[in-house]
Amino acid sequence: MRVTIFGTGYVGLVTGACLAEVGNDVICVDVDADKIERLNHGEIPIYEPGLEMIVTRNHQAGRLQFTTDAASAVDHGEVQFIAVGTPPDEDGSADLQYVLAVADTIATHMNDYTVVVDKSTVPVGTADRVSQAVAQRLTARGVDIPFAVVSNPEFLKEGAAVEDFMKPERVVIGSDDEQALEVLRALYSPFNRNHDRLITMDVRSAELTKYAANAMLATKISFMNELANIADRVGADIERVRVGIGSDPRIGYHFIYPGAGYGGSCFPKDVQALGRTAQQVGYEPALLNAVETVNDRQKGYVFEQIQSHYNGNLKGCCFALWGLAFKPNTDDMREAASRRLMEALWAEGAQVQAFDPKALEETQRIYKDQSQLTLCETAEAALEGADALVIMTEWNVFRSPDFGHIQDTLAAPVIFDGRNLYDPVDMAEMGFRYYCIGRPS
Ligand code: UGA
Repeated sequence: MRVTIFGTGYVGLVTGACLAEVGNDVICVDVDADKIERLNHGEIPIYEPGLEMIVTRNHQAGRLQFTTDAASAVDHGEVQFIAVGTPPDEDGSADLQYVLAVADTIATHMNDYTVVVDKSTVPVGTADRVSQAVAQRLTARGVDIPFAVVSNPEFLKEGAAVEDFMKPERVVIGSDDEQALEVLRALYSPFNRNHDRLITMDVRSAELTKYAANAMLATKISFMNELANIADRVGADIERVRVGIGSDPRIGYHFIYPGAGYGGSCFPKDVQALGRTAQQVGYEPALLNAVETVNDRQKGYVFEQIQSHYNGNLKGCCFALWGLAFKPNTDDMREAASRRLMEALWAEGAQVQAFDPKALEETQRIYKDQSQLTLCETAEAALEGADALVIMTEWNVFRSPDFGHIQDTLAAPVIFDGRNLYDPVDMAEMGFRYYCIGRPS
């Protein structure tokens, strides 16, 4: 099938590469000429396991092309995916200007029946607005070309994006247009083997399904963070509690890890946007508000522990920081808990020596003029001359470090662990002052 994809961010690039991988002829369009040029030279703008290989393979095979030429790209595709960003507005609502601009572009250049697919995470009602934008432009052109707008939200996780796309748990398709449903069924058939993973529904339900999934996951995390704070105060161990409740299949073991608060480009933005949608229709989303409040508080938790350990006097202190990305296996720093922590430490006059296996370049880009930050090439280098170690991302390489070396290198054996990587009893036995989340230490 001939496919066009607008937007070469996480979702667009992964969708394009994976659809090409199963034999489709894909053109990815972006307004960012620099990005398109880099992609055409085999440079992948994000770190995502497995992505470089399939982009390169399919690009070389001619099944995956990158362009800024929207007119020829629209002409190419039987299916047109909209996978551009929906950044939060000042009030937290999703900003739809890029989505609607793409709808207009598609309608400006299309000549035959076209299936327009909303892949970006967009508020309920967006497909209707995209339909209106397309219809308006077609009327202005004085042409009557049939089209359908379908909602097909993406559920991939950063760090596992290619695998999630190639082996989806479900493919949600919202449409009441039979022809469009057939086109998407055919497009997704290579990913829909063994048992049917396609879930079809009306457009609005599909749009809400995406927010519902992320809001549910964010709720689980905030719930566990709240319980961790209670566990802390009543002398219980949240890790034991986690195993205890996770064994109930109705609760499950997934997404109940307490930590330094959720980050990333999705949960914070989507919980907020769903809340704004609710308010716009006259419903005060008490639970969603609480999920956000708890997360916001949690993001300040490790800093509070540090401040209390040093009696509020952090001026001149130097902290080794392991982990900058919002989670392991990505270089994404959006809404990362490490950022809140570093900014709070700098405001108190402390220095940070940070290491991350993949996010150093991105951190450098964000904080290029920050004199209180030193980026280190190894985890060990970050420890040199530091007063204590702080862990903010649970990369596997941090799980079993040389504790003797940490002890010898730090000015004092103190670790603040925002991800509960180590056993508090072992740490105490080794002589560490070990701060973690919701565990007696
Ligand atoms: C999330 C969803 O998991 C995907 O299903 C969804 O498609 C995606 O958003 C999206 O809307 O595009 P992602 O943001 O890549 O994916 O990251 P997650 O793995 O969900 O982690 C989000 C945050 O929650 C991270 O900061 C992580 O550290 C935190 N987290 C996760 C916890 O604190 N505890 C947990 O138990 C799990």
